[in-house]
Amino acid sequence: MTDAPPPGAAPGRPSDAAWDPRQYAVFAGPRGRPFADLLARVEADRPGLVVDLGCGPGELTLGLADRWPDAQVVGIDSSPQMLERARTLDTGGRVRWQQAAAEDWDATSAGPAGPAGPAGIDVLVTNATLQWVPSHLRLVPTWLAALAPGGTFALQVPANFDAPSHRLMREVAARHPRAADLAPGLDRAQAVARPETYAALLLERTPHVDVWQTTYEHVLAADPDGPHPVLEWVRGTGLRPVLGVLEGAEREIFLSDYEQALEMAYPRRDFGVLFPFTRTFAVARMPA
Ligand SMILES: C[S@@+](CC[C@H](N)C(=O)[O-])C[C@H]1O[C@@H](n2cnc3c(N)ncnc32)[C@H](O)[C@@H]1O
Repeated sequence: MTDAPPPGAAPGRPSDAAWDPRQYAVFAGPRGRPFADLLARVEADRPGLVVDLGCGPGELTLGLADRWPDAQVVGIDSSPQMLERARTLDTGGRVRWQQAAAEDWDATSAGPAGPAGPAGIDVLVTNATLQWVPSHLRLVPTWLAALAPGGTFALQVPANFDAPSHRLMREVAARHPRAADLAPGLDRAQAVARPETYAALLLERTPHVDVWQTTYEHVLAADPDGPHPVLEWVRGTGLRPVLGVLEGAEREIFLSDYEQALEMAYPRRDFGVLFPFTRTFAVARMPA
């Protein structure tokens, strides 16, 4: 068990393993697709201020700077490892990178203050991040209030916590000798709401709301002698609460039990491994 929380862990919570930008990047292609699908529904023409909350390693945030070259783009993340990677990628210094936890971030201070006070946010994107922010249903209204007139809020969260990848993770954790230590992190990692909850929350504040779910049938390359690709996928994200608790032999016992279960649930075939993954999207535009 690690003594100190990893850098970037929120205070007062069980420690997760630190984010590893290299592990996260292994599946950059399929992970990037939902971001593109989300942004396709954002209709901002010439936004002045664009914020990516939970920007991760920065590739996708830099895509926002490509799409809106005249905008000030801000990338916010709680992980120093992710921000370090983002700053390295941003050779042109096009994005303002800022370390903050979503829970503490003051959305009203995101842009430069002018004579009329701080500028509102024109586009606030948060992709694959709010599942790590259990209080986000309380925070979303404060973020909407910080939007400029006509501004857009766009979120995407995984909706796969009942999929075998996550169900088996919980089952293997429950029969592990450290079950009691593993449960809190895995429970916390289910903090997303149903699509209708996001829809109602947003519709109470604006009539311009679009909420949907998509199931992606990811096809993951599977080396017959290599680790199971679903294990490698979750290693970079959903397994972090487990990896933050277990070390050495305890970790090996967990990983071997879990991988065996994944082999049954997601068999390796000639074309690879099929990994269905459902995600929830919500886009809200404030009245102009
Ligand atoms: C799965 S990654 C998504 C990164 C990026 N948005 C993407 O789509 O590739 C989740 C990101 O959320 C960040 N994160 C997790 N909890 C956070 C919090 N409470 N506040 C801010 N960022 C957080 C992590 O550091 C990580 O970079």
